[in-house]
Amino acid sequence: MTDLPAAFETIAKSRRSVRAFKPDPIPQELLEHIFRIAGTAPSNCNAQPWITHVVSGDRLRQIEEKLIAAVRAGDADPDAGHREDPYVGIYKERRIGAAVALFEATGVGRHDKKAREESFLRNYRFFDAPHAAWFFMPPAFGLHGAADIGMYAQTLMLALAANGMGSCAQGALGHYSNVVKRELGVDEGLACTFGLSFGYPDEDHPSTKAITDRAPLSDLVHFHE
Ligand SMILES: Cc1cc2nc3c(=O)[nH]c(=O)nc-3n(C[C@H](O)[C@H](O)[C@H](O)COP(=O)(O)O)c2cc1C
Repeated sequence: MTDLPAAFETIAKSRRSVRAFKPDPIPQELLEHIFRIAGTAPSNCNAQPWITHVVSGDRLRQIEEKLIAAVRAGDADPDAGHREDPYVGIYKERRIGAAVALFEATGVGRHDKKAREESFLRNYRFFDAPHAAWFFMPPAFGLHGAADIGMYAQTLMLALAANGMGSCAQGALGHYSNVVKRELGVDEGLACTFGLSFGYPDEDHPSTKAITDRAPLSDLVHFHE
């Protein structure tokens, strides 16, 4: 019999942000299976507020073109993102740690503005993934809805990892969800905090060497009795 705790730990630890994909598409039947598993996620009042749009093939490459143009023109969704940068202190340190790991792995110099921009733009090329998903929700759900979307997305990412696939959650995609709404005819009133690129990982890409660490448990979890 399978050692379920060990299997779960392996899957949870094998999930990491993948920023390079092979072009091979995931068969539709498997896609539907994975998204059904994602849908087992819990949500406030079982509202299941995740209105998910999955884009593949030529349609994704068309959206990529529109997104790159919007990023270059600075046409970001005015409702997306933070009004002020919340990453200060220890949070800023952690953010820098993750960025440095990626830049070092991919050979992007600290002061190489052009290479950094190109690296950032890879977000909008979906890191060459054959699929991307956007999670929309009614904005009235606020923090509750955002929590539900997070649970859904993590269940999705774990289901992908368990099936040999990789993914990268991307707030960058949420910042330009106005473009995606226009392209896909999604209700303009819906909110989107992030999207997800996914597919089969390209294990030979240098970005796979960017491994993030985690703060010690005692910094984050406080046990009381
Ligand atoms: C909601 C959310 C938004 C994120 N946005 C981006 C993004 O826009 N671009 C990116 O490359 N990574 C993004 N990430 C990935 C994080 O940088 C990554 O999860 C973190 O550094 C930990 O690394 P790991 O996922 O490899 O464990 C995002 C992750 C989450 C959960």
